[in-house]
Amino acid sequence: MDLFLEAENITKTFGGVAAIFNLSFATRKGSVYSVIGPNGAGKTTLFNLLTGIYQPTSGNMRFEGKSLVGQPPHKISKLGISRTFQTPQIFLNMTVLENTLVGCHNHGSSGFFSGALSLPSSRKEAARLEEQAMENLVFCGLDHLANRESDALPYGELKRLEVARALSTKPKLLLMDEPAAGLNDSETGEMGELIRRIQKLGISVMLVEHNMALVMAVSDGLLVLNYGEYLAEGTPEQIQNNPKVIEAYLGMGDD
Ligand SMILES: Nc1ncnc2c1ncn2[C@@H]1O[C@H](COP(=O)(O)OP(=O)(O)O)[C@@H](O)[C@H]1O
Ligand SMILES: [Mg+2]
Repeated sequence: MDLFLEAENITKTFGGVAAIFNLSFATRKGSVYSVIGPNGAGKTTLFNLLTGIYQPTSGNMRFEGKSLVGQPPHKISKLGISRTFQTPQIFLNMTVLENTLVGCHNHGSSGFFSGALSLPSSRKEAARLEEQAMENLVFCGLDHLANRESDALPYGELKRLEVARALSTKPKLLLMDEPAAGLNDSETGEMGELIRRIQKLGISVMLVEHNMALVMAVSDGLLVLNYGEYLAEGTPEQIQNNPKVIEAYLGMGDD
């Protein structure tokens, strides 16, 4: 198996309490790999570790054989990992296109905020970035809204803009934190389609999501977390039939 994303015995504690404990897993290039588990299970913390927002208390993480430990977010972005946030991190006073450009500027520049503030070095470069941003808007079904102020967007479009912004860094791996949270059924279906199309582009996806219909429909593999610890790993079918998972998570709210 090609080396892609690997975590080896990672632990992250906050004030002595482990949000992630001794967690190991590996994902395959080209796959949609989902992380599920109850609220507070440590899913967002895991994404924060993988993107350099937090550093692990102990353990190793590698992407394509390169260590992620000690790397700041902009370095990890350059290695090819991008993410969406559970709560959209969109600049509401900027247009849809401008928000997507923030991601483009980050590509090859020094970071999210400095990238947002830096100006492209030439008109030609600016035009190229804008073309690239427009392509991502077309891909996410947002091109007709390119010049709209972002604060006027319905929530479903805001969640897709979050994806367009993340794609603008040209990631090899996209981490998506609850992309369907707050979406209605038809918007959730569209998000599922978008995830499949992202995978078809050759971008690997790591998905955190509570909508089990969506997760089971798009995932090649799943990891189940419970209180920050590994509970199970497997295909959608294996996970749906795993008694430990049903007891800890999937059975919740049934009967
Ligand atoms: N910066 C932080 N400081 C203290 N505790 C945190 C911090 N971030 C996350 N936690 C704790 O870690 C646990 C896992 O949280 P989180 O990763 O957000 O879970 P999930 O995304 O699975 O709902 C929770 O108990 C949360 O309170
Ligand atoms: Mg979370």
